[in-house]
Amino acid sequence: MADRIITTGSLSEDRDNELVLRPQSLDAYIGQNKVKENLRVYIQAAKKRGEPLDHVLLYGPPGLGKTTLSNIIANEMGAGIKITSGPAIERPGDMAAVLNNLNEGDILFIDEIHRLGKLVEEVLYPAMEDFVLDIVIGKGPAAKSIRIDLPKFTLIGATTRSGLLSAPLRDRFGVISRLELYAPEDLKKIIFRSAKVLNIPIDDEGAAELASRSRGTPRIANRLLKRVRDFAQVRHSGIITGEVAKESLDILEIDSLGLDMTDRTMLLAMIEKFGGGPVGLNTLAVSIGEEPDTIEDVYEPYLIQLGFIKRTPTGRVVTEAGYEHFGLKYLGGNDK
Ligand code: ADE
Repeated sequence: MADRIITTGSLSEDRDNELVLRPQSLDAYIGQNKVKENLRVYIQAAKKRGEPLDHVLLYGPPGLGKTTLSNIIANEMGAGIKITSGPAIERPGDMAAVLNNLNEGDILFIDEIHRLGKLVEEVLYPAMEDFVLDIVIGKGPAAKSIRIDLPKFTLIGATTRSGLLSAPLRDRFGVISRLELYAPEDLKKIIFRSAKVLNIPIDDEGAAELASRSRGTPRIANRLLKRVRDFAQVRHSGIITGEVAKESLDILEIDSLGLDMTDRTMLLAMIEKFGGGPVGLNTLAVSIGEEPDTIEDVYEPYLIQLGFIKRTPTGRVVTEAGYEHFGLKYLGGNDK
């Protein structure tokens, strides 16, 4: 499937974006107040004791700033950070090498930590718990295990759903924090901040319009800001007003609530092919040609937040509000 302009996956343009737009301190980080204030306490306490921070698991839909937050934690701790991802660490030896290269107090950030293989994961257990590596040398009856001490470090793991992690791995994190989709007011602040950094003229209505169509996700807000700037410069006076934002986002086929073609295809499939549900995740995935994980991690959180769909024990259902968004008549009963 072609990249959606509102994909929450990271595109190469986002990486450039995120480098300049990324806040460097907790004070500059907008929203996620509960997570932020808890982290502030844990960081202060760890610094006071002269110890590294406990291992932290950050989970939530993509594009909400898990990497950004990890960089901020490193800054606030005055620690170094090494960044890698689950799929990048293929063998137990790779994991051992990454751990062995850490310095005292370093942060190790592992994105998509749920994608680590079982054997790789097992290298992490003693490392997280006792800061040691258990290495087996040789095979069969002659095999010997040796222990190597590691520097004290903090593991920050990021994943979309905490349930994707095995229980033994999840249990070894001292701090488990869930990032939520952003409220439009917070997104508006982020848009103003980004516009200032990138020198993009925007007024209050322009920012509000962008905020309400960014599906609660800063990565999308920043991407739309740049696209709408292009329309503002080429077709208008260069300033992003409410009107300019509306017109541009309509052209990009992003509707008043931030739904794009794929969201609409999914909702309409649920309504037209499955009578509004209940429909099972796998059946729905096959019917629109998407991966079940993508539906669960990317599409559903925002549609659930809008109250357009619900998860029930027998499957997903479209609610009355979901029908109304398309001007369709709700016959009732499917969400009971
Ligand atoms: N850019 C992306 N996410 C942000 C956030 N939470 N606060 C400030 N700027 C951001």
